[in-house]
This record gives sequence, structure tokens and C-alpha cells, in this order.
Amino acid sequence: MGTGYTYGTGTAVSPGIPAAGLLQRLALDEPEFETRMRESLARAEKWLQATAHESLDPRVAAITGHLADAGGKRLRPLLVLLGAEFGDPWAHGVTQAAAIAELVHIASLYHDDVMDGAATRHGVPSVHARWGERAAVLGGDWLLARAAQLAAELGPAAVHLNAQAAGRLVAGQLRELAGPAPDEDPVTHYFHVAAGKTAALLAMSLGIGAVQAAAPAPVAAALTECGEQLGIAFQIADDLLDLTSPAELTGKERGKDLLAGVQSLPVLLAREGDAPAEAGLRDLLDAGPVPAAALPRALELFERSQALAETEAVMHRRLDRARTALAGLPDLPARRALLALCDYVALRTS
Ligand code: IPE
Ligand code: IPE
Ligand code: MG
Ligand code: MG
Repeated sequence: MGTGYTYGTGTAVSPGIPAAGLLQRLALDEPEFETRMRESLARAEKWLQATAHESLDPRVAAITGHLADAGGKRLRPLLVLLGAEFGDPWAHGVTQAAAIAELVHIASLYHDDVMDGAATRHGVPSVHARWGERAAVLGGDWLLARAAQLAAELGPAAVHLNAQAAGRLVAGQLRELAGPAPDEDPVTHYFHVAAGKTAALLAMSLGIGAVQAAAPAPVAAALTECGEQLGIAFQIADDLLDLTSPAELTGKERGKDLLAGVQSLPVLLAREGDAPAEAGLRDLLDAGPVPAAALPRALELFERSQALAETEAVMHRRLDRARTALAGLPDLPARRALLALCDYVALRTS
């Protein structure tokens, strides 16, 4: 791989900047560890960019590289590198594994924006808004295929972890599409969906980092459990941000879940609640996807409802479970970083 790269427009990219941003937000005071992380994140970013843009046809590269260019927090590569800190962080394949995790994530965004009819992502037009649904589906498939190829270069353990995470992710999305079965509690269904579409990849990210770095098996298992719980909390936080955070911060339209009729956790808890003050909100949500004209009122009703605080309480319980999973691990800077990440998930605005 070369040291620099360009894409579509010929613009040079500065590798590692988005991920380093998340690392900075954890406000750790561990200079040596942070330098190592920043350098590894930059290397992972190069793998990611080179892979996403590798088609010789610039029209294909423009599609497959679109969201890798547009931004993102690079949470999953960070998790891979944190997992690797519990073994040999310099081991072969660690940064490549970090790129694999982000490729799967980005592929899922291509598909997810088609599913949700989302017009913007990372503050730019979504892939399907710009090139159409067929290109978005195929572009996402291509990124998944490239992730699988990179995993094959790392060996059977990486192939297994990648395939398992991608399978759980897609099954979660399919289950969301299908909705709860007639005899299924909608909140139970929600947790199954969140475990698949979001937690599976966060769990895999910590796990693959640990495995590539040859960390002891019980350590890898504890990290995987942490990722699973953190992932559910992360999805719940994402559901809350849809209702509370402006588009300038999230890069996504505010209230898009309501417009798409997504049964997010705050929506489910609002619909299940019985406070008289929330009757108006329940009526609106029970009627199906919120019409665009009613969105400002729906967001305002949410702000006055109990549903947001109830949703936050559920998120905090999951974060506690993520912290508990770390209890027996060595007290490394990476463990402290993961604890800081648990705090960050509850406070994040983007
Ligand atoms: C968004 O994930 C999709 C979910 C799983 C909730 P991120 O918030 O990590 O996406 P980026 O940072 O924009 O890539
Ligand atoms: C995350 O769910 C789905 C993915 C696995 C990409 P969301 O539908 O809530 O994600 P956003 O809000 O569009 O980022
Ligand atoms: Mg979505
Ligand atoms: Mg969302």
C-alpha cells in the first residue's frame, strides 16, 4: 500500500483525523498510549480509504468511497485497537482488522439509508439519494465483500468473526423490517434488533482486536461482552439523538426515525406509557409514521414526556453492564479508555 491516496475529486485526505477526534473526547491523560492509538488509527484509516477507493473505474470508486470520505466517528476501529491493547498491539493484522470493522459499518449505512429512506448521512447526501437505491445496495455489498477478503488474509478466526458479525447485523435489520411477531413483546423485539444491527459489530470489533493481538481467551470473551452491552446502549443513545440532537451535530435529519415510522425505544416507551400528559404523543405515534408537518409538534411532545428519561435509564443499565464486563481485566490505559467510552456514550451529541 502506498503512503498517500487521492479519491474521486483528486482531493488529498488526512488519514486518522475523525478517529483521533473520538479519542480526544475521552480526555485520557495517557500520552504514550494515545500516541500509539493515534498512529494505529491513522494506519487503519489508510487501509480503509485505499480499500474503499480501490476500483479502477472512478465512477465505481466514487460510490464505494462516498461515506468513507464523508466522515464518521470511527468508533469501531477504535474498539478494535482497544481490544488489541490487551495482547500485543503491534501484532500482524490489528490495523487491518480495524479497517474491516469500519468497512462493515459503512456497508451497513449504505443499506440502512435505503431501508430508512434517509436523505443525508455524515452531513452529505446518502448514497441512494445521490446514485439511487440499486447503486447503494450494490455499493454496500461490494464493501462487505472487500471486508471479507481482508478478513481472509488474516486467517480463519478473522473470517469467522467477520462473517458472524455481518450475518447478525443483516439478520437484525431483517428482523426490524419484519416487526415484532404477533405474540412478541415489542420491547423484547427491539432488543433483539439492536443486538443484531448494532451490538454485534461493536462486540466483534473488541473481540477481533483481542484475537488478532493474541490476548487470552477469557479476556477476549469479557471484551466481547462489553462490546455487546455497549452496542445496545449505543443504539439507545442513537435513538435518543434522533429526537434531541440537531442535524448539524449528527449529520442526519432530526426526527428521521419518526418520519420513517421506526419503532425506536423512546417511541415504544412513549406508546406504552400511561401518563395523561402524554396522550397526545401516543395518539400521534399510534397513527403510524409521523407526517412531516407534525414533526415539530412530535419533537416538542417528546421533550415534555417521561419517555426520554425512561429511555435514558434503560441505556444507563446497559452501560453499567458494559462496565461490569471489564471488572476482571488488567488495569491498562485501554481499560480506562473503555470506561471513558461508556461515559461518552451517555453524553454524546453526535
Ligand atoms: C450509526 O453509527 C449507526 C448505528 C449503529 C447507531 P455511528 O454513530 O457510529 O456512525 P458514524 O460515526 O456516523 O459512522
Ligand atoms: C443502525 O440503526 C443501523 C445500522 C446497523 C447501520 P439506525 O437506523 O438507528 O442508524 P442511523 O440512525 O440511521 O444511523
Ligand atoms: Mg437508519
Ligand atoms: Mg438511528
